[in-house]
Amino acid sequence: MARLRSQIFRRILIQKMVFFDRHKVGELTGLLTSDLGSLKNVVSDNISRDRGLRALSEITGTLCILFTLSTELAPVLGLLMVSVSVLVALFKRSTVPTFKSYGIVQARISDCASETFSAIRTVRTFGGEKRQISLFDNLARAYQNSGTKLGVLKSANESLTRVVVYVSLLALYILGGSKVNAGKLSVGTMASFIGYTFTLTFAVQGAVNTLGDLRGTLASIERINSILSAKDIDDSLAYGLAKELDSKELEDSNGGVYENGSVNKHFMSELKSSSSCSNLTWSGDIHLKDVHFSYPLRSDVEILNGLDLTIECGKVTALVGPSGAGKSTVVQLLARYYEPTQGCITVAGEDIRIFDKREWSRVISLVNQDPVLFSVSVGENIAYGLPDDVVSKDDIIKAAKAANAHEFIISLPQGYDTLVGERGSLLSGGQRQRIAIARALLKNAPILILDEATSALDTTSERLVQEALNHLMKGRTSLVIAHRLSTVQNAHRIAVCSEGKITELGTHAELVAKGGSYASLVGTQRLAFE
Ligand SMILES: Nc1ncnc2c1ncn2[C@@H]1O[C@H](COP(=O)(O)OP(=O)(O)OP(=O)(O)O)[C@@H](O)[C@H]1O
Ligand SMILES: [Mg+2]
Repeated sequence: MARLRSQIFRRILIQKMVFFDRHKVGELTGLLTSDLGSLKNVVSDNISRDRGLRALSEITGTLCILFTLSTELAPVLGLLMVSVSVLVALFKRSTVPTFKSYGIVQARISDCASETFSAIRTVRTFGGEKRQISLFDNLARAYQNSGTKLGVLKSANESLTRVVVYVSLLALYILGGSKVNAGKLSVGTMASFIGYTFTLTFAVQGAVNTLGDLRGTLASIERINSILSAKDIDDSLAYGLAKELDSKELEDSNGGVYENGSVNKHFMSELKSSSSCSNLTWSGDIHLKDVHFSYPLRSDVEILNGLDLTIECGKVTALVGPSGAGKSTVVQLLARYYEPTQGCITVAGEDIRIFDKREWSRVISLVNQDPVLFSVSVGENIAYGLPDDVVSKDDIIKAAKAANAHEFIISLPQGYDTLVGERGSLLSGGQRQRIAIARALLKNAPILILDEATSALDTTSERLVQEALNHLMKGRTSLVIAHRLSTVQNAHRIAVCSEGKITELGTHAELVAKGGSYASLVGTQRLAFE
């Protein structure tokens, strides 16, 4: 069971990003806990109790004895038992939808709870407790109703089998009694026959319950399968991950992340080796060529329409523009969370799709708009993504110093070992940002992307962090996104993004002289400052 659970977890992890847009966290955790739980129960119950295989062997055994005892009575009993099974099977078929909806309500209830707790601050701010409570109440009621319905069905099913069993016993008494009276059957045989009939009854009951459990399990498996269909698997990621896991756990056959032959191996065989990925990114420009993009879940809205941009190797390119223009979308395409719907992204002339995603993730360092930390210590967060044996404590401290985070970290109660809480909630926004920057610095990747990386800092800290970043950006291909134009005015090139296209391109001085939208942006920010 542990293995199955791990396999499902792996399978979820290698899904495309759109999968995570589509399914809620509660639903996915539900797959691993409740749906799998019902699977576990059916396995353990049917091994440990009077069910499953044991029941089946008992049925065969007692039927044999009954036939030996009386060849005339046994067929009657056998016939009755067969009719019970048919009846029960028909009845079970009608209960599948109930089992399914039970699973769905269960997922929704855990969804509601996890969403409420993770957004507890927002709930407090807007006095949303009542709303969340009524939401949960409704779900809890639906859950209960669904459970009751399921219980009724289950007990109706058991009563039905019992009724049939008692009818058979009655038939047996009548038929057997008349035979005893007629002197065709001894009382002793009749008595043992009835005794064995009871054994048979219990065994059939066990088998029927097993069938019931299997129904529930099948509903769970169906849900797991329908969510984890192969079409959303990110082949490029699955391939890279499988390669790494296989080399690490050779003897563990469990390592195959992409089973069922779902990976397009032909396409994968054309992937380049990791050394070429790293070489190319250290030496070549990145081009976004006529990139069109719409998010898979909102395919009718085109976010980027024919965006062309060159991010020169070893230089700083800045991307500015109004909110919602598509700047972070460009970052998501560069990070390969999504693929362009049209056009392509190349590095040194090679389409980036030729690299598997694990390799690609190693050449990109990204600090995004809303950095999320893991609920481990500060030090572990900074070292996240690097193998433990590679990172020393000194490296971590060096990166923290460069990100202007060392001072505040050592003033925390346990220094680098302080836990940061879920998603880093025990730190301030600016502190989180500096840790995210340190994490990106430590990775030492050729491509650096900063999406509003210093937006939560005060001007003094920002200047300090900016200095560290300027130092770091030397020799790296960097893309910087910022609303505060003072942070980008020294960039080698500034691109203005508007309505999914690059509308202006040049240095700060050139763009100001041109008097276009960048110049007016600069104007308004200066005004706001004065
Ligand atoms: N996962 C998503 N699914 C669907 N639409 C999305 C998704 N993420 C962003 N969008 C939409 O894409 C558009 C561009 O968003 P994007 O985050 O790229 O803007 P931005 O330029 O970074 O803005 P800001 O400066 O406010 O960060 C927005 O209209 C947004 O609603
Ligand atoms: Mg953004």
